[in-house]
Amino acid sequence: MIEVNGLKKIYEVKRRQNFFCSEKEKIEAVKDISMKLEKGQIVGLLGINGAGKTTTIKMLTTLIEPTAGTYSFDGIDAIAHPDKVKRQINMIAGGERMIYWKLTAYENLWYYGQLYGIENSLLKKRIEELLKIVGLEEKANLPVETFSKGMKQRLQIARGMINDPKYIFLDEPTIGLDAIVTQELHKEIIRLAKEEEKGILLTSHYLSEVEELCDYIYLVNAGELVFEGTKKNLTDYVFSKNRYVFSVKGMDEAIIIKLRDHLRSIDLESEVMHENGNAVITSKAELSANIAEFAVNESLIINELHKLEPSLEQAVIKLSKNIESKGVDIA
Ligand SMILES: Nc1ncnc2c1ncn2[C@@H]1O[C@H](COP(=O)(O)OP(=O)(O)OP(=O)(O)O)[C@@H](O)[C@H]1O
Ligand SMILES: [Mg+2]
Repeated sequence: MIEVNGLKKIYEVKRRQNFFCSEKEKIEAVKDISMKLEKGQIVGLLGINGAGKTTTIKMLTTLIEPTAGTYSFDGIDAIAHPDKVKRQINMIAGGERMIYWKLTAYENLWYYGQLYGIENSLLKKRIEELLKIVGLEEKANLPVETFSKGMKQRLQIARGMINDPKYIFLDEPTIGLDAIVTQELHKEIIRLAKEEEKGILLTSHYLSEVEELCDYIYLVNAGELVFEGTKKNLTDYVFSKNRYVFSVKGMDEAIIIKLRDHLRSIDLESEVMHENGNAVITSKAELSANIAEFAVNESLIINELHKLEPSLEQAVIKLSKNIESKGVDIA
């Protein structure tokens, strides 16, 4: 398990005042982040631009040192023993960094394998396996500059797996990829977690991707954790009320008014809105049976009655807006 406690990072930058002089400035990119990642789990790290996600991943992959805080990998103190930890982890970022264009796919993987000190015959076997997994066997001996974006990203994945890491950090891994490659990558991420028991930490701005892949979510804002839990926890937290869509044959304002009166006799705070020929009902109470009962009593023909399940995207947008407007009540 990876355990992170009170991680903090302050960058020092020089802000140019004019041509001759600049002033030192501190940027608190990560203020206080604590999290856990178990083997076999896919955890999402979400947040708007500049929230501190990449900085967190860079600290966890030992690329940069934290200003404060502790973190351990399977009980090993990562700050005291970064070399031990480096062997157990790897990172896959979206885009075209960390790949040498003039080298072939095979040579790139050979180079990174050598950096990890993997023994030659084992490395050869692993490269062949990985090229097969990412579907690049036929392209193994072509220079990377001849690859499409999707092919480069597949090579990134193979590179990120070269040391057979126990934990993998994915920083926006599907950025710029087409739907087919994205879907293949999703399958591969799920396979790595569920079949190979890898612990995976993923950042992404595609919330449908997070919704599909992640078992657990951490939401960061301005370097601080603002929420942690499952997708269901998050949507329940943000949308504490039930929402229903109800439509009947001949829906009109008179029906809406009657329905509103009926439902307010059960929950005084329930709301009934007339939207696009439907009644949209909001209530803290569970009202589907009461809505159906109303239709039967009024001899109405139901076209539609269902509960709206909010998406992760709606929840994150609402929560982020609430935080921006400084902690307005979430409902
Ligand atoms: N090398 C650096 N030197 C100084 N400040 C930095 C550096 N890297 C990031 N920052 C600052 O730290 C903050 C967090 O940046 P970070 O890249 O971690 O955000 P992010 O959540 O990954 O954002 P995005 O969604 O845009 O990728 C930002 O204010 C950024 O300007
Ligand atoms: Mg980032």
